Formats: sequence, structure tokens, C-alpha cells
Amino acid sequence: MNRVTIALFIFAVIATCEGIYWDTIHLEIVNYLDPPSDVIIHCKSGDDDLGIHQLPRNGTFGFHFKPAVFTGTLFDCSFVWPLHIEWFDIYVHLRDECDHCTWRIKATGPCMYQDMTKQFDLCYPWNKKKKKLAS
Ligand SMILES: *[C@@H]1O[C@H](CO)[C@@H](O)[C@H](O)[C@H]1NC(C)=O
Repeated sequence: MNRVTIALFIFAVIATCEGIYWDTIHLEIVNYLDPPSDVIIHCKSGDDDLGIHQLPRNGTFGFHFKPAVFTGTLFDCSFVWPLHIEWFDIYVHLRDECDHCTWRIKATGPCMYQDMTKQFDLCYPWNKKKKKLAS
């Protein structure tokens, strides 16, 4: 290893141990289901379980966190409403460029607000099902 590589390696080890973080991300989820229905949301990252929240139509659930620089931070949520159970990675560091990230939850999947268009027009499909529900 040359000197630069060694320096980078030491920096990476220290950073990983000390925990270096990006700026705080504020994330908000809005229940936009049509026809209107409550939705039960459960979000988790590797480190945090944000608990279970029941949102009425137009209700919001917000949280904030500092993404870890080296490990990256991923929040994965489940969304349950009558006859549906879906999952979505609500925060992926390399995908999401927002520092205030606002999502509308629709039956077809979540849509993120974009500053450029001033609309909730960045829509994603739900994650593929993780497991079959017991029948
Ligand atoms: C949700 O908000 C919209 C816009 O303010 C309103 O038109 C609609 O009636 C609300 N729906 C419910 C179920 O509260």
C-alpha cells in the first residue's frame, strides 16, 4: 500500500468507528390513499425501529436522522391498509437527493415531491414482496 492508500484506510477506519454523518434528513410521509383509508406504517433502519403508526387519510408521519457516511442509511417501511401489505425503501442515500423528503403514499406506490417541478411526480413501484403471507 502506498502512503495515500494507507492514509485513506486509516481515515476510513476512524470514520467508521467514530461515526461520521451527513447533514440531517427530514422525511415526511403523507397518506394519500384513494379511496381514503387509514394506513399503518412501520419504518426501520439497521439501527432504529420507528414503531408502528396509524395514519388517517391526509395524516402525516415525520422523522429525522443523520445518515452515516460509510455505511449509508436505509429506511425500509411496511404499509398496511385493507387488503394490502406493501414495502418500500423510503430512504436510500444514493437514490434520494432531498434533505426535506416528502412522500405521498398512493395505492400504486409512493411519490416524492420534487423541487424542480413543485409536484409529487417522482413515483416508484412498491418493493417486490419479501415473503408470502400465510394463507
Ligand atoms: C384530504 O385533503 C384534501 C385537500 O385538503 C381534501 O380535499 C380531502 O377532503 C381530505 N380528505 C380527507 C378524507 O380528509
